[in-house]
Amino acid sequence: MMRFHILTLFPEMFDSPLSVSIIARAQKQELVHIGLHNIRDHTHNRHNTVDDYPFGGGPGMVLKPDPLFESVEEIRESAALDETTPIVLMTPQGRRFNQRIAEEFSELSDIVLICGRYEGVDERVRQHLVTDEISIGDYVLGGGELAAMVLIDAVARLIPGVVGSAESPANDSHTTGLLQHPLYTRPAEFRGFGVPDVLISGHHANIAKWQRQEALRRTLERRPDMLESADLSAEDHKFIEQLKADESSDS
Ligand code: 6GU
Repeated sequence: MMRFHILTLFPEMFDSPLSVSIIARAQKQELVHIGLHNIRDHTHNRHNTVDDYPFGGGPGMVLKPDPLFESVEEIRESAALDETTPIVLMTPQGRRFNQRIAEEFSELSDIVLICGRYEGVDERVRQHLVTDEISIGDYVLGGGELAAMVLIDAVARLIPGVVGSAESPANDSHTTGLLQHPLYTRPAEFRGFGVPDVLISGHHANIAKWQRQEALRRTLERRPDMLESADLSAEDHKFIEQLKADESSDS
């Protein structure tokens, strides 16, 4: 079982995303545990203040270090975490999350996710508490909560048993290093629009070849950068060269 320990000022934000579909089932099956911890429970001042003005001035407020340190310490003790458990700060300044990082995280027994808010967190949290910093992309969110949910979703579905073997993540885009090929379902003719003949041919080798080629075509069109790190066969390279040749003769 993998345990996610979340530190947030808004634990209620996590309720509905985690209570449906795959993640809900994974929690019921005890493959995944998600512990929510309100940072505000670790304040000791009269007004339960978690933020304060930045030294030196500047816009916005800064998350104070003590409630964050105390929250992590409390989780460390109550969940018996060892020193190797990653303490991850969700921040737009972190390293960019991707499928490779999701795969690494999915092998952990525990992970602590700190959801930042306001202008940011006190630098001593970064220096002396956090072991990793993650961003989910180049845009700014109001806080780390949605980013943490994205991370949990991507990681949880890689844990063995969470996603059925029929829908195995082994063939997912970004695991194979290619975008997914087009999909069709019934009816075979919809408003006059058909389905590629090969898919209803029943010829499995031809279908597999078509799917591979369409994945290559789509990746070349939309994400040529991904082809550089994809695991490609000699046949794949030949097909890509053919696509490029067709493209340059069309124009
Ligand atoms: Cl992790 N946090 C915030 N606030 N904004 C983000 C992000 C995280 N990742 C992308 N944008």
